[in-house]
This record gives sequence, C-alpha cells and structure tokens, in this order.
Amino acid sequence: MNAILKPRASHDAARTIQPAWVRITHWLNALAAVLMMLSGWRIYDASPVFQSFTIPPGITLGGWLGGALQWHFAAMWLLFFNALFYLAMNLVTGRFMSKFFPLSPRAILHDLGEALKGRLSHADPSHYNAVQKFAYLFVMLDIAVLIVSGLAIWKSVQFPLLRELMGGYDRARVVHFCAMSLLAGFIVVHLTMVALVPRSLLTMIRGH
Ligand code: HEM
Repeated sequence: MNAILKPRASHDAARTIQPAWVRITHWLNALAAVLMMLSGWRIYDASPVFQSFTIPPGITLGGWLGGALQWHFAAMWLLFFNALFYLAMNLVTGRFMSKFFPLSPRAILHDLGEALKGRLSHADPSHYNAVQKFAYLFVMLDIAVLIVSGLAIWKSVQFPLLRELMGGYDRARVVHFCAMSLLAGFIVVHLTMVALVPRSLLTMIRGH
C-alpha cells in the first residue's frame, strides 16, 4: 500500500522506536529509583554502614527515619512490579534478545574506543551501541541485586538462607550500599549521555 494511503495508526507503529510499555516502565522506574535512593540515604544516615561517611540531610527524602522508611517501602513495590513487568514484556516480545544482543567484550571495547574519539554514530536511534547494551544490562542486574539485598535486610529473619548467601546481615547492608553507589554512577553517566544525544530523549518520550 502506498505510504500516503496508509492508515495513520499503522504508519505511527512502523516509526515507533520505543514502544509505549518501554516508555511507561522506563519513567516509572526512574521515579521509583530516585525515590528509593533519596529515602535510602536518610535511612543510611540513621545508622551509617561506614562510620565516617554520612549523606547531607538536605538531599535526602523522608525528614526522619520513620518517614524515610515509609517512602522506601512504598516505592519498592513500584520498583519491583514495574521491573517484573518490563522484564516479562521484554522476554515475551523477543525485544530482550534483539535489542541487547549480540554483545561481546570486544564489541564493548571497540565502541568505547570509538565513543572516546567522538566517532560513534548516532544516526540510527533504533539501535543501541555495544556500550549502551552493556550499560543497560548492567543496570538491570544492579537493580536485581538491590532488590535481593534489600529483601535480605528487610526480612533477614524470614529468609535466613538469603541472608547467609549475602554473608550475613551486615554484609548484606554493604552489598546494598555498593549496588546503590553503582546505580548512582550509572545515573550520572546515563544523564550525561542523554544530554550529549538529546534526540534519544525524544524517542523515550514520544516513541519515535
Ligand atoms: C533514574 C534511573 C534510571 C534508570 C535506572 C534508567 C535506565 C534505563 C534503561 C535500562 C534504558 C534502556 C531501556 C530499554 O531500551 O529497554 C534507558 C533508556 C533511556 N533513558 Fe534512562 N534510566 C533512568 C533515568 C533516566 C532519566 C532521568 C532520563 C532523562 C532525563 C533518562 C533517559 C533515557 C533515554 C533518553 C533512554 C533511551 C536511550 C537511547 O535511545 O539511546 N533515563 N534508561
């Protein structure tokens, strides 16, 4: 059928780079991640894992330990069910394999080198380069570690095996803190890359 005669809906679908469910789950995930991080910092301050390191209260959420726990426990359901839906949809639609694979250490190093030389092409916004694929898979795994270590801390009596696999309650807190720090690092790099390629933000907002 001639492109001009094509119904508008199918024309839009053909141009879609990020389907609606990816965009909705991405922004819900970003909201949940930020709420969890800011309230987590307040919880951390109430009993710092590293005695000499605390987070300035001004950049935390919740006002006090009780308030921060309420935020943390509310946002964790959003983070968990949203992540579950995102992963399930990615697997069922086959998007997970087509968007994030194939991937190899050689391809990551190659694309990283090209990116540092400013030679990486962003001409095709529907395609992730190897560094992006790696970063997105990394953050998915990191959020999974955050959820599992969080569960080990929250329900350490009910899940003794999980707690022991983490090396005990105190180590689970260190794991949780390290995974949070890696997420914070990802967000800084992620936002820098989005600022450098603003076209990608449009695809994550309107789909194309
Ligand atoms: C706060 C936690 C965040 C996490 C964990 C996160 C994670 C991700 C992941 C995993 C993807 C790939 C999604 C997929 O294709 O299935 C992605 C894509 C994207 N994210 Fe985020 N994101 C976060 C916040 C943000 C924020 C605040 C912005 C913008 C201000 C943003 C802008 C984008 C854009 C534009 C893309 C598409 C990149 C492209 O097409 O090249 N993200 N993000």
